[in-house]
Amino acid sequence: MKNTVAIYPGSFDPLTKGHEDLIHRASRLWDKLIIAVAVAHHKKTLFSLEERMDIVCQVLKNYENIEVHSFSGLLKDAVEEHHASVIVRGVRAVSDFDYEFQMAGMNKQLMPHIDSVFLVPGQEHHFTSGTFVREIGLLGGDVSSLVSPYVEEQLKKKRQLQGLA
Ligand code: PNS
Repeated sequence: MKNTVAIYPGSFDPLTKGHEDLIHRASRLWDKLIIAVAVAHHKKTLFSLEERMDIVCQVLKNYENIEVHSFSGLLKDAVEEHHASVIVRGVRAVSDFDYEFQMAGMNKQLMPHIDSVFLVPGQEHHFTSGTFVREIGLLGGDVSSLVSPYVEEQLKKKRQLQGLA
């Protein structure tokens, strides 16, 4: 799988240790890994695009083969722009599979020559999800095992801004 550009798209709202685990694995498998942060028209995010980009850039700054970009619109356009040939997504449990399989199928229709590859995170991240991280973080719970210290700080700021602290 050498000389291949892989793209890992997602909302990353916010980046979790589960994402980081997958990113670490993907960065060892492919020469170049693009983290494509979606504007995410499909959902209301806690963090703005700029905040999510900042978090991803800060946390991943030590990886030499990773580039961070945002994208709006179709993933197909980002894949073409960055000359990627592999789409990376994570699956934690069977419950993820339905949605991921449908998305891979749609992407296959739009991009027949591009392959979706699913990576499984380490067991300690099988229950890590952005939804739970946002909820626990905003309600003042301990998220230190779920996100990096930088994300923890940003969650604390959000909690204060929303008058929850
Ligand atoms: O982290 P998420 O929210 O599960 O990521 C979903 C994302 C952003 C990867 C997906 O919604 C996406 O690729 N959106 C771009 C629109 C698109 O290309 N849709 C067609 C394929 S389903």
